[in-house]
Amino acid sequence: MKILGISFGSKNGANDSMCKEALMGAQELGAEVKFVHILDWDIKNCTGCVACSRSLVTGKGNLCSLKDDLEELLELILDADGIIMSTPVFEKGATGLFHTLNDRLGPRADKGMNIIGMKIAEEHGGKPIDPRWIKDKVISFMSIGGSDWGTGAQVDCAMLALPWAWKVVENKVFQWSKKILMDDSKIAEAHELGKNLAAAAADIEKARWIGPEGMCPHCHCNNFNIEPGSKKVVCCLCGIEGTLVDDGDRFSFVYPEARLQLAHDTLPGKFKHAEDIKELEGSFMEFVKTDKYKTLMNKYKTYIEPLTPQNRH
Ligand SMILES: Cc1cc2nc3c(=O)[nH]c(=O)nc-3n(C[C@H](O)[C@H](O)[C@H](O)COP(=O)(O)O)c2cc1C
Repeated sequence: MKILGISFGSKNGANDSMCKEALMGAQELGAEVKFVHILDWDIKNCTGCVACSRSLVTGKGNLCSLKDDLEELLELILDADGIIMSTPVFEKGATGLFHTLNDRLGPRADKGMNIIGMKIAEEHGGKPIDPRWIKDKVISFMSIGGSDWGTGAQVDCAMLALPWAWKVVENKVFQWSKKILMDDSKIAEAHELGKNLAAAAADIEKARWIGPEGMCPHCHCNNFNIEPGSKKVVCCLCGIEGTLVDDGDRFSFVYPEARLQLAHDTLPGKFKHAEDIKELEGSFMEFVKTDKYKTLMNKYKTYIEPLTPQNRH
């Protein structure tokens, strides 16, 4: 079984150490381990060209228009049975590079989109999609903050697993990074996380979340969007809509059973999302043909030139 560790931290910093400690734990259970220090890799920002989703739905395969090291990294990701990611906490959440990787793989790795793309390619003789894109996989996250400001970290991490519909086994936050190597219990936690991930990877069908119960009973996310002036709350990760109920000493999140069907980490939820986007794309393609669109585009294009570093005055 292959376990890939990816650290988003500085060279030989707390994230590298904790990620390597987790890999040692996984190795103890017989895993073949590999380690990536992602700052060594050239991963460009997503430009939003949507070539990835367009190619999937037009039977042209799974691709990206940018040329950098992502394809090499993808070979490691697609090949792994389990992944351990460790990210520093930046501005209370995961780092910019973590988000960049997520942007680059969000639409492109979406399990629903890949299943749709496979079907289209098969029916219309298009470019086949590597089946590893929809392979079941397990992942555990560690986010390591320099302080105790990290309320966005877990949701950012779990978001990376959501397009792929990978099973998240653990999603831990560590505080006060400079103290971590002085604390054997933190090192032991990382070691254990690696072992747990390897055990889950060895039997992916039975793999399950083993972290503490979260506020959202479905995805264990603790971050919610509360609609002002109402009792409506939306889970920031899986998107389930419901209400918070006061149980006296705690709140619980309740939602109608039917809402589960639309959760963003389920295949029905992903197919519904793909349908919504298809409908919107269709109406936009019609709008593009109208004079109103042409007038608006002319207004914005001719209004002001964007500044560049060479011509900023
Ligand atoms: C740009 C930047 C933003 C940061 N924001 C936070 C933060 O919001 N909360 C926090 O706990 N630590 C924050 N930190 C501290 C980092 O989380 C800490 O330096 C990191 O865990 C070190 O990891 P490393 O040793 O693997 O590089 C920030 C650090 C940087 C450089």
